[in-house]
Amino acid sequence: MIKIAPSILNCDFTRLGELICLAEEAGADMLHLDIMDGHFVPNISFGPMVVTSINRITKLPLDVHLMIENPGKFISAFAQAGAKIITVHLEACINLREEIGAIKKEGLKVGVALNPQTPLESLFGYLNQIDMALLMTVEPGYGGQKLISSVLPKIAQLRDHISRNRLDIDIQVDGGIDLETAQSVIDSGATILVAGEYIFGSSDPAKAIKDLRKLCDLSQSRSAGRSR
Ligand code: DX5
Ligand code: ZN
Repeated sequence: MIKIAPSILNCDFTRLGELICLAEEAGADMLHLDIMDGHFVPNISFGPMVVTSINRITKLPLDVHLMIENPGKFISAFAQAGAKIITVHLEACINLREEIGAIKKEGLKVGVALNPQTPLESLFGYLNQIDMALLMTVEPGYGGQKLISSVLPKIAQLRDHISRNRLDIDIQVDGGIDLETAQSVIDSGATILVAGEYIFGSSDPAKAIKDLRKLCDLSQSRSAGRSR
């Protein structure tokens, strides 16, 4: 099943609780939380205290995307705050194997993210240890950017590698996802779609989620039909 992970980065933070409940009711599968430190990316967002508060008001699994330097230092804080998945950037880790081990030790799912320019091959040695590969479809740091379409072949290449090696890994895509680009990332092989601006920048976020769900379900049944 293709999953939808709304990102709250560009939402109206004065309405955070209300918008999260609305996303949950509209059928979101998880909540994508973008953590930025002003060093790894040129922007600052929020930290574990906000994640703790969010965890109190939603049953949605919290998908924590760490765009921070030295992520290992904060893994236990985000685990305690209620994360279910923690994703670290390959570019930010001095010892990726260690960070993967630290996330697993907390009993959480592990994601590893790659920036658009980072070669896919740098991830191949870690794929049997992780649950999710996050392919950034924009330069990390800000919501509301346009999807970089040169990442599409990278998604397809990873999908192919996963199938050939019979791995059980989700491909998450993050940045510039809307109804139009969703179709192309799904066709390329993505299984979890992060969407921020498309959902929370819309005048009707619940409708935006439901429309995206329809598109995901339709593409899924079409591809099931093809493989029958
Ligand atoms: C960007 C973040 C994204 C961002 C996506 O660095 O990782 O999760 O919120 O937002 P949109 O969907 O607005 O591109
Ligand atoms: Zn993100």
